[in-house]
Amino acid sequence: MLLNPNIDILNLEEALKHIAEKYPNKAAFSTSLSIEDQLITHYIFSNNLPIKVFTLDTGRLFPETYSVLTSTIERYNKKIEVYFPKHEAVEKLLTEKGPSSFYESLENRKECCFIRKVEPLNRALEGIDCWITGLRAEHSENRKAMPMVEIDEARNIVKVHPLSHWSTEEVRSEIAKYNIPYNVLHDRGFVSIGCQPCTRAIKEGDDFRAGRWWWENTDKKECGLHS
Ligand code: ADX
Ligand code: SF4
Repeated sequence: MLLNPNIDILNLEEALKHIAEKYPNKAAFSTSLSIEDQLITHYIFSNNLPIKVFTLDTGRLFPETYSVLTSTIERYNKKIEVYFPKHEAVEKLLTEKGPSSFYESLENRKECCFIRKVEPLNRALEGIDCWITGLRAEHSENRKAMPMVEIDEARNIVKVHPLSHWSTEEVRSEIAKYNIPYNVLHDRGFVSIGCQPCTRAIKEGDDFRAGRWWWENTDKKECGLHS
């Protein structure tokens, strides 16, 4: 691995510069346009770093999420590459199972997540050696022990989570400091935001990811992007 093993003691901006230096045009940041992801995007774009920024438009995102995409492109005058699911796969899924099959079983939900997220992610990461994410330890039990730098063994690439130890308060305070555009849903009880039919607001004291796939009885709710 090319990265400094002490990358975790660098601040966010230094860590991103270090990644860009070690993997010029070979590093990519996946943004869901969530509040933490907006912070990473801010530092990449403000420093003109040679890091590809991409998002997976599942076709089922909230209108508010598309608004953040627009305001971010306008604010930084930079491109966010958009990956969309293969239309044949979506057409087949909807024709055979209807538009809401994900509520019917875990298998169906994972099928939809695979078509709309995982397959496009695989295309987005083609030719990439270092994948940057906005994952944080605070998100869930299975993200708690996550190291900041790991190897994605399935893809044989380095995976870095530069915000892994940031708290929500720290993220919000930086967002306010630099007046970075963020999803207004974060002010309406939505902490973790994914697709519209599979995300809802949570109540005070609820688990961070309680609003994601809330009808499923499992504490390991993942869509397959990070498994
Ligand atoms: S998920 O696996 O449950 O969907 P989550 O919403 O917590 O993931 O986001 C964690 C990280 O996964 C984000 O910081 C981002 O790097 C990546 N991610 C999630 N959804 C998307 C998306 N639609 N497009 C690009 N990256 C995404
Ligand atoms: Fe489909 Fe829901 Fe997964 Fe989005 S989160 S890809 S709508 S199952």
